Amino acid sequence: MSVSRFVARAARASTRITPVSSFTKPAVVSIARSFSSNNNKLSNADPLVVATEVPISSYEGGKVQRNTIAVTEVEQAHEVAVEEVPEKVVPLTRALYNQMPPHMQKMTLMDKVVVVTGGARGLGNFMARACVEAGAKAIIIFDANQELGDSSAHHLHQLTDNKIPIEFLQVDVRDENAINDAVKAVVDRHGAPDVLINSAGIADSNIPAETYDTVMFRRLIDINLTGSFLVSQAIGKSMIAANKPGSIVLVASMSGSIVNYPQEQSCYNASKAGVIQLGKSLGAEWAKYNIRVNCISPGYMDTALNNVPALDAQKVIWKSLTPQNRLGAVDDLNGLAVFLGSDASAFMTGSNVIIDGGYTLY
Ligand SMILES: NC(=O)c1ccc[n+]([C@@H]2O[C@H](COP(=O)([O-])OP(=O)(O)OC[C@H]3O[C@@H](n4cnc5c(N)ncnc54)[C@H](O)[C@@H]3O)[C@@H](O)[C@H]2O)c1
Repeated sequence: MSVSRFVARAARASTRITPVSSFTKPAVVSIARSFSSNNNKLSNADPLVVATEVPISSYEGGKVQRNTIAVTEVEQAHEVAVEEVPEKVVPLTRALYNQMPPHMQKMTLMDKVVVVTGGARGLGNFMARACVEAGAKAIIIFDANQELGDSSAHHLHQLTDNKIPIEFLQVDVRDENAINDAVKAVVDRHGAPDVLINSAGIADSNIPAETYDTVMFRRLIDINLTGSFLVSQAIGKSMIAANKPGSIVLVASMSGSIVNYPQEQSCYNASKAGVIQLGKSLGAEWAKYNIRVNCISPGYMDTALNNVPALDAQKVIWKSLTPQNRLGAVDDLNGLAVFLGSDASAFMTGSNVIIDGGYTLY
């Protein structure tokens, strides 16, 4: 095992008993930051660079203004609270879009039709809201939960002041026939979708591999991995048939790249590794059709998926192992989802972007 891995593991082990606030202190830091003695420039004998003020030159209207700010002592790091997400969705209007400079226009989803699976709640629902604000002309939610899906679609429509069509289709992502019929219905009404955000997924955790029920194992793979494939295939086919460029965004997880600690969840981790590799494969295969496929891999997010009392103790550990010392907010994927759906990411395909508050850095 490499030294850095050993150190990281030691750090993880120490969190079992160490309170959150003192986690980043002594033993680990002193090992990780020791400099090589061959590097004179970085030798410990050098005086510390400590400025008392910072000069600023501001160029505005052809003139320069020079200022300084006094340097204050570094404040103690504090925990950043996850902010309440405002209940407001403001659709991007054509008039506003027309005023945007070209680069900003590229970062929108103006006039695009967006399908979001798992959009009845959680991360999918908030990415759908962001797509409305980025100019999408219609949002179509595919979700297995009829009641929740219907009420979320209604709610989102109201939040847009009834301006943007929001549709909900009850689809289980394991059901190939239902998916194909649902996609056909979308194409008939809106034409082939421009963007798919595949967020439907489930998680099982705290199940040791040696006792994992194989029926549960197959079910999770069926939803998270096969479901991602089936929906991508159906939407991809509609894009190909319409000869239309498109963007598919698969919500994977950092668990597809690392093994979570301390909970045992081999199946979830394997399913998400599969989603990442699926995204790369589809990205390579469908580049010839001008269809891009990328993955978002979130770290621990503060959603209903994790809102289980049995996970409370583990959340303390998850936070302590996350440099930003928080779980992700439910809207923390929004910016990336819009970017990946937009033409601003035109040269990106097969990528897997991790958004985890730094968790995978350790
Ligand atoms: N919350 C996290 O910490 C976290 C971290 C990494 C990745 N993710 C991934 O992000 C995605 C969304 O997670 P979330 O936290 O918003 O979860 P969530 O449980 O809040 O929402 C998931 C949605 O998917 C729907 N769904 C579940 N099974 C389905 C099926 N068979 N067919 C159609 N719809 C189905 C649910 O009804 C629900 O609306 C999932 O793929 C999850 O694995 C979540």
